[in-house]
Amino acid sequence: MIMRKGFLKYGYGLAACLAFVMGALAFVSRPGPTPYPLSYPGYFGNRINIPADNPTTMEGVALGRRLFYEKRLSANNTVSCGTCHLQRLAFTDGRRFSIGFDGTPTKRNAMSLANSLWVRNFFWDGRASGLEAQAVTPLTDPHEMGQSLDSSVVKLRAAGSYAGAFYAAFGAAVITPERIVRAIAQFERTLISADAPYDRFLRGEYHFTPLEQEGYELFFGGGPVRSVGCSNCHGGPRTLTETYHNNGLDSVFADPGRAGVTGMAYDRGRFRVVTLRNIALTAPYMHDGRFASLSQVLDHYSDHLAGGPTLSPTLRDTAGRPEPLHLTAGEKKALLAFLNALTDSTFITDPRFSDPKIN
Ligand code: HEC
Ligand code: HEC
Repeated sequence: MIMRKGFLKYGYGLAACLAFVMGALAFVSRPGPTPYPLSYPGYFGNRINIPADNPTTMEGVALGRRLFYEKRLSANNTVSCGTCHLQRLAFTDGRRFSIGFDGTPTKRNAMSLANSLWVRNFFWDGRASGLEAQAVTPLTDPHEMGQSLDSSVVKLRAAGSYAGAFYAAFGAAVITPERIVRAIAQFERTLISADAPYDRFLRGEYHFTPLEQEGYELFFGGGPVRSVGCSNCHGGPRTLTETYHNNGLDSVFADPGRAGVTGMAYDRGRFRVVTLRNIALTAPYMHDGRFASLSQVLDHYSDHLAGGPTLSPTLRDTAGRPEPLHLTAGEKKALLAFLNALTDSTFITDPRFSDPKIN
């Protein structure tokens, strides 16, 4: 239903790859894994990120889904990826800070996993390049899942039931650290959210209410009402540009943000612009979960921008001072209506993304 040009182009590529892979595998007389039909709207663009050595396959995704919800991947068998990334909350957890296997809170707020297929650098500070590399962090972090990949391998081997799934996914029953993170990454690539009212609007299947329309125009500009510039950062149908900005939360930074990765003073207090898709479900907000509601977020942009040398130029006046948006009550209502139109109920109820032990 939501297949568009993007999928078709990619689909032909996949078909060619499949023919090649099938041929190669027939040669060694072993059935190969089946490509997973990643379908997404053409307006999401084709700049997806799939490493050549980890194609997305039905068998790999099925294994990755099991592993995503596998608590044996944590030191005391209590925490899985799904503990902090709940489908019903668009793969966030509703907490300001998440709680790892040993009860220690994380330093930042859990992030949504929707549409990671298009993201290159993960985390609030962009420190992980690629989903495979990203997955190693929560697995081995001493306060998140707290277990070495080698111990995970030993536990999965002992669990017995995984060998067949690894064989189906990778053509070898041997469980390795690399295959664990590859399978998880394959599953994450399938978490595509593209069926919100905003998508139906983009596909010409839905008319915005007057309030949603006004919010859309405030957000993106180009309409009869003023633009308040959200789309300078949260632009395009995926509502993000993969850039780092200081959006005026603080003048003194408890968390250095991007500067922690680059070491540049210029990056202090700059964080990744994240997607606003399903934003009504992913409270609390910002890297430290400081805002409990979207109204508080709008109040921030409206009236409370903190100044400082790295504040984004987009949020400053010509003299370099913070330039709050001064939103009226009506504008806030309209923006909220548009932000609510980014909630994708198909995504949060899709049985393909749920815990396979339950569904
Ligand atoms: C204890 C809670 C917790 C667990 C368990 C956990 N995460 Fe996370 N996740 C977080 C937090 C917190 C962040 C943001 C951390 C940061 O930016 O430093 C995050 C960020 C992410 C991101 C980055 C998203 C983006 O757009 O940049 C991905 C992907 C992710 N997690 C996947 C996983 C996977 C896969 C697992 C299991 C292997 C997992 N997480 C386990 C809490 C958790
Ligand atoms: C200068 C770039 C920029 C502009 C303009 C901007 N944002 Fe943001 N936005 C960001 C960044 C960067 C973050 C993450 C900041 C952090 O957590 O430290 C963010 C975070 C958010 C979040 C929280 C996301 C989450 O998952 O917690 C919401 C909601 C949001 N912005 C809405 C808006 C709206 C609505 C507008 C327009 C009124 C807007 N933004 C304008 C850069 C921008």
